[in-house]
Amino acid sequence: MTQAGLSQDQLKDAVAAAAIDEITPWLSRSTVLGIGTGSTANLFIDRLAALRDDFKGAVASSEASAERLRGHGIEVFELNSVGTVPFYIDGADEVNAHLHMIKGGGAALTREKIVAACAEKFICIADASKKVERLGEFPLPVEVIPMARSYVARELVKLGADPVYREGVVTDNGNQIIDCFEFMIDDPVAMEARINAIVGVVTNGLFAARGADVLLLGAESGVERLTPA
Ligand code: A5P
Repeated sequence: MTQAGLSQDQLKDAVAAAAIDEITPWLSRSTVLGIGTGSTANLFIDRLAALRDDFKGAVASSEASAERLRGHGIEVFELNSVGTVPFYIDGADEVNAHLHMIKGGGAALTREKIVAACAEKFICIADASKKVERLGEFPLPVEVIPMARSYVARELVKLGADPVYREGVVTDNGNQIIDCFEFMIDDPVAMEARINAIVGVVTNGLFAARGADVLLLGAESGVERLTPA
């Protein structure tokens, strides 16, 4: 059956369904899943509802995802009480062939990075528009302690970025977001570490030191399953 003419939302739903297929054989009544944030993760959560009796619950990377999970009757656990999770399933704003990503368009990057760090397998779910040769067309989000915002912005300028304060946004951690425009990234692993070393940065939206293990990419021709190049 041809998949031509699918909308971006349909592609996102197709990868959400593929992620369900990917994890279903591994679910048990003791499984706690790590769940991401955003429109693609929301579609995954909605599909997960049908499986709620087959696993124990979830750790969420945002208050919004926690609320959606609870709304489907899925129990939400504190990460500290869980330890590791077998899978973390989340979207991305950009992803390259190494499965390095830019994330944080929804301002949830810090909790996303924490849950991803505790995951045995990171499954990235994204429509084909997110796949890029080089990261940086999407403005890189940086979460900052509010009093450090101007200082961090000046340091980001020194790195070549055009930093813009995301006005009116407060993260789930009570912090602020700076978006780095005009900032193409040649070495995501090095740049992730470099930005994180600026005093006042909580974390940045480069997910390179811990990238994804599997990318389920939704295209017109179907869902492609990719692993790091
Ligand atoms: C949330 O902070 C982000 O990291 C999302 O995972 C990312 O923005 C992808 O979102 P969509 O699935 O809505 O495109």
